[in-house]
Amino acid sequence: MGVTAILADFLHCTADPGLAAGGDGVEIVRDGALLVRDGRIERLLPARALEAGPDVAIDDWRGHLAVPGFIDTHVHYPQVDVVASYGAQLLDWLERYTFPAERRFADRAYADAAAAFFLDRLLENGTTTAAVYCTVHPQSVDAFFTAALRRGLRMIAGKLLMDRNCPDDLRDSARTGYDDSRALVERWHGRGRLGYAITPRFAPTSTPEQLALAAQLAREVPDAWIQSHVAENRDEVDWARSLFPEAASYLDIYDRAGLLRDRAVYGHCIWLDDADRRRMAQRGAAAAFCPTSNLFLGSGLYDLAAARAAGMRTGLATDIGGGTSYSMLATLAEAYKVQQLQGVSVPPAQSLYLATLGGAVALGLADRIGSFRPGREADLVLLDRNATPALARRTAASADALDDFFAFMMLGDARAVAATYVLGSRVAAPAAASG
Ligand code: GUN
Ligand code: ZN
Repeated sequence: MGVTAILADFLHCTADPGLAAGGDGVEIVRDGALLVRDGRIERLLPARALEAGPDVAIDDWRGHLAVPGFIDTHVHYPQVDVVASYGAQLLDWLERYTFPAERRFADRAYADAAAAFFLDRLLENGTTTAAVYCTVHPQSVDAFFTAALRRGLRMIAGKLLMDRNCPDDLRDSARTGYDDSRALVERWHGRGRLGYAITPRFAPTSTPEQLALAAQLAREVPDAWIQSHVAENRDEVDWARSLFPEAASYLDIYDRAGLLRDRAVYGHCIWLDDADRRRMAQRGAAAAFCPTSNLFLGSGLYDLAAARAAGMRTGLATDIGGGTSYSMLATLAEAYKVQQLQGVSVPPAQSLYLATLGGAVALGLADRIGSFRPGREADLVLLDRNATPALARRTAASADALDDFFAFMMLGDARAVAATYVLGSRVAAPAAASG
């Protein structure tokens, strides 16, 4: 099979650039060519060094900025109808909006349509990998993975485990939750580019028995992911602690159960102390930083500098539908502002890292995705500097490709995404574009 050469300006992280200004850990190839064979990256080189031959197909995106496909480390596909729901903070928001919306996913046809809608939104925004929460219904997972497999995407997802403190018709039991998850692992984990995530919603909606069985499944399938929520909202923290009085902290509930390890990703992590952060780092667990959600639900400000000081990994996440944008560019803008409020100006290189290689590292997938290194899967985004008048004017004044990327974060959204590539092939644009 032949080689495709994608021509563009290329920007990617080769390592964690840190919080100091400067371009370390970043590679920029202006007027570059990305050689792709069988869906994988062979080489990134200057276009002038490209030897054109009859077996090289050219995809000409000169003038565009190519970055690795974005990685959304925490998002709920069944909440496509919940996004932008007025006037509540976390626990009321769950009762008022989220549980009613998740009920509809008992219906497989509804779930199929929502999964297709959701993946179209991700792809039009340049997101090619996500760690996705389904609902308590196993068929919601089948719907999601079927849609992701059809599109050739690298996606992680799992069935919610929820055996208390929720409506009766959204409740499983410790045993059925385990059995259903185990069957879904067997059906989907490792199929195509799909991976299963054991998904207790959060400690307040699981009994200790359910958390213990979730951890048992995690031991049985060591390369499965684990995902949950922790320390998002102060009332939630108090509630979790009252339900598990023996635990030293909210995070300790998960640690005691055996749910902190590599490939465990915890949403929010706002109200952790430094001992918790160090524990996350020691266990190899990662945080999903969800800035638009944290602002929208009034949850609090994620402390990226403290996470880094403790050695804890962080990925970026939209957290649709607590979050308010499908765009990882718009999410980076809010991430930047959340850190500004705490006196830290995140450099553009670190922002790029959060949305790409840092997400891959958080998910334990840096050998597959997140950069343009040889051998990686060729998932990428082409950004159009002229997508809007504001972007055209601002990028004309850019110092370099990192400065362009900062402008894309602050001013861009789906409109800035000219094309998304999955395994080296351009994904067809959905019929109706939206934000
Ligand atoms: N905590 C438990 N469930 C949820 C959810 O669906 N969204 C958010 N943002 N937090 C949660
Ligand atoms: Zn969430």
